[in-house]
Amino acid sequence: MKTLQSICLITAFAITLAACGSKKDETVTEDYGTPDESGQAIASVDVITQGESLVKASDCKTCHHQTNKIIGPSHTEVAKKYDFTKENVALLAGKIINGGSGVWGEIPMSPHPDISQADAEKMAKYVLSLDGEKEH
Ligand code: HEC
Repeated sequence: MKTLQSICLITAFAITLAACGSKKDETVTEDYGTPDESGQAIASVDVITQGESLVKASDCKTCHHQTNKIIGPSHTEVAKKYDFTKENVALLAGKIINGGSGVWGEIPMSPHPDISQADAEKMAKYVLSLDGEKEH
């Protein structure tokens, strides 16, 4: 009887896993939508819009204003300091996840270990776009 029960449990678990797996695939497809004629350009604007929503939904605004320094530098100031390159997207995404200090002053930026690398990169791209620069 015990064996039968555990077989049932394992089967139910496997079905649940499979269900979750396929749901995740759907979400990924939705995220990027269907590219239109200008393909790449639209996709990168989408990433910046997603980054903006992520920043607005997180605790960033406690310390960052878009245009004024509060506890941290304004995000526009950050955009002006860094070129919008792949290297700087990775650098700032790392800073968002791991926190740090010493670039803008002695006040440290708090780490965000629960933000994924992909989301942190979208946030970094949004910040870097604020001075009107495009990724290059
Ligand atoms: C507790 C306050 C605080 C919070 C919350 C916070 N930051 Fe910061 N942030 C700072 C400070 C202070 C600095 C300057 C750190 C330094 O001098 O190295 C900074 C720096 C940065 C930089 C520039 C890093 C560099 O090396 O030049 C970026 C980009 C940034 N923050 C993005 C974010 C984002 C996105 C969020 C939300 C997920 C966020 N911050 C949340 C305080 C904060």
